[in-house]
This record gives sequence, C-alpha cells and structure tokens, in this order.
Amino acid sequence: MAVIGVGRFIQKRQDFEDAIARSYQVEMTARVRIAEGRGGAAARQVVQRQAARRENLRTNISNDTRDTALLVAAGLLAGLTGALLLFSGLIASLRRPLEELVDAAGRLAAGDLSARVEVGGLSETATLGTAFNEMADQLQLQAKEREQLDRLKDEFVLTASHELRSPLTSVQGFAELLMLERETLTSKQVETVEIILDNCRHLVRLLNDLLDLARSDAGRLAIKMRPTELAPLIDEVVRTLRAQTEGAHQSLSEELEPGMPSISAEPDRIRQILVNLITNAHEYSPEGASIGVRARVVGDEVEVSVSDDGPGIPESQLEHIFERFVRGDAGLTQRVGGTGLGLAISKSLVELHGGTIEAESTPGEGSTFRFRLPLRPAAAAGAETGRATVDSSP
Ligand SMILES: Nc1ncnc2c1ncn2[C@@H]1O[C@H](COP(=O)(O)OP(=O)(O)OP(=O)(O)O)[C@@H](O)[C@H]1O
Ligand SMILES: [Mg+2]
Repeated sequence: MAVIGVGRFIQKRQDFEDAIARSYQVEMTARVRIAEGRGGAAARQVVQRQAARRENLRTNISNDTRDTALLVAAGLLAGLTGALLLFSGLIASLRRPLEELVDAAGRLAAGDLSARVEVGGLSETATLGTAFNEMADQLQLQAKEREQLDRLKDEFVLTASHELRSPLTSVQGFAELLMLERETLTSKQVETVEIILDNCRHLVRLLNDLLDLARSDAGRLAIKMRPTELAPLIDEVVRTLRAQTEGAHQSLSEELEPGMPSISAEPDRIRQILVNLITNAHEYSPEGASIGVRARVVGDEVEVSVSDDGPGIPESQLEHIFERFVRGDAGLTQRVGGTGLGLAISKSLVELHGGTIEAESTPGEGSTFRFRLPLRPAAAAGAETGRATVDSSP
C-alpha cells in the first residue's frame, strides 16, 4: 500500500512539474506578444489566467502530498502491524510444540516412558516431534525387552539355584555321615571330608542367598508374619554365635530393653538378618574386638543395632554396601571368601517386614548396622518386593 502511494505521488509530482512548465510557456508567449504590442487585453488575460492556474496547481499538489503522506503512513502502519502479527504467530507456532517437547522430555527423563508429543507446527519442529516420539518408542521397547530379560534371569537363577541345591545338600549329608564315623578314617581322609563339608556349607549358603534374592526380585519371597518376641530371639542368636566370637577372643555383649512388646515378623528371617550382621562384625573385626547387640523401642518401631569397634567402612563404600556382590576393603582382605550378598538380603528381608536398615561407620573406629521394624506393620508391608502374610496365631 505504501509503495502504491509513493508511486502515485511521484506520478502526480511529474504531472505537476509538466503543468507548471506548460503554464510558464503559455505565459511567456503571451508576455512576448504584449512586449511586441500585439496581444493587448487578451494576452494580459492569458498572463493572469496562467498565474491563477499555477496557484491552483500548487494548492492541488500540496493536498495530494498530504494525502500521499497519510496513505504512506497508513500503509507503513498496516505493514508493521501485519509483520508483527505474522512474527508473533510464527513465534507461537514454534513455541507451543517446543514447550510440549521440553515437557515430554522431562517426563521421559523422570521415567515416564509413555511420554509422547503431538506432532505439529513448522516442518522442523514437526520433524523434531516425530524423532522424539520414535526415540520414546525405542526406549519403551528396550525397557520391555529388559523387563523380559530380567524375568528370564530371575527364573534362571531360581531354577538353577534350586536344582543345584538338591544334589549339593545330599553331598553335604553324606560328608556329615562320614564325619560321624571319623574314627574309622585316616587323618588325611578326615581333613578331606572337612574341606568337602566346608565348601558344601559355603555353596549351600550361597545358593540359599541367590534363591532368596531371585525370589525377592520375582515378588515371590513370602514372609509369614506372626507375633514374635524379639528379646529371646536375639538372645538365642547371640548364644549360638558366641562360640565363633570367643574363638577370635572377641566380646559379644547384648543390651535388650526390658518389656519390649512382641512384633509381627517371621522369626527365621529376623534370625537370618541378625546372623548376617553379627557374622560380619565378627569376620571383619580383628581378634579381641568388641561387638554389641542392642534392641530398644523408638516411637512406634523397634530398633536393633549391631556395633563393632573393627576397621570400619570408608565413606565411598558405605553408600553401596547394601548392593549385591559389593564387598568392601574388609571383605576383600578377609580370609574366608564372602559373596557380598549378606547385606543385600538383610535389606530385602527388613523391607519385606516393612522396616528400614542403615549403616554408620567411622574408618578406624568401627561400624554400626541398625534396622528398625514397625511394632504394628502396615497391611501392605513388603508388597513392593515380595509378599508378607500375617499369621496371628502365636
Ligand atoms: N561390620 C563390618 N565392618 C567392616 N566391614 C563390613 C562390616 N559389615 C560388612 N562389611 C563390608 O561390607 C561388605 C558386604 O557385606 P555382606 O555381608 O553383604 O557380604 P560379605 O560378608 O562380603 O559376603 P556374604 O554374602 O558371605 O555375607 C563386606 O565384604 C565388608 O567389606
Ligand atoms: Mg556378610
């Protein structure tokens, strides 16, 4: 519009200049005639008319200039508004899909693999949206495949551990039978049977641990809760393990709060947790170390702790200590090879009871492992990793 206005204005200006030039020409001819004494009154009239005509032309051209300026200004304004509208439309069409993409990427990163975007907008953003959706599809597919592989792995570990355990327990049984008749064996034979027995026990324990973890992963580790008195249970475990700690001249003390109420738990599993923690304290602490087992009620939970003044665990290892197959410095220098499963199983078992477990340690001063169990477990305790059933009969 502004360009049309300017073009029209230039044309008018040209016409004006031509008309003024023509007017002067006519006036000049009239004036020449007057000067030659030929024109008379008619020539003078021509001079006056031309002056009036030029005046008229000037008025017209100044009106036209104003109109054209207005037209140009209106055109520029309309152009600017149009450009602004176009620009903001363009920004909006770019922004909306990009915002959607950022939001979906955030959800995807947080683990929501169903996050997708609506493909739209400019061709570049549409391509980006399509690429994002394809990537999310791939991730979801891979996650599904991983889940399937995990399930297969759990099934394999479950079956393999189970199948291996049966012949192994029979080898262990026969070795134990042989040991019952040790007086008929030579000392070399006794030594060999002892080695067989040691290795059998170690393997059976490892297979049992693997079975527990695989069951826990598959949600098939069943906890049969029943009212359980903690004090006699802890006392029994401490008495059983005292032979081992005394062998290493370690003191094993217990401090149990009197009158602790019974809790809902599976006694064998609590025993397993305690054996794991006390055995660790015994195995990883030097001769003459002190090990303490304490139990007390804290709020609506009961807290059991196992402390030692052994080598402790460096901070960098402490945060991974409950992970599977993780062995710290103390574990690696220990003579009897462990597997790094004891704490992982203990954590799994505590959580199946609806409780929590934590480790605290100062290298060079000792370690404390503390687990807490609810006095009244929630109905859904252990629902995430396994099954917990409550049996109210004592
Ligand atoms: N009381 C402790 N003092 C020092 N280090 C400890 C203590 N308890 C555990 N650890 C460290 O934590 C690691 C993991 O312990 P965990 O009981 O899970 O496995 P493990 O004892 O090595 O093998 P196992 O499966 O036979 O129990 C140990 O190897 C050891 O380094
Ligand atoms: Mg251990």
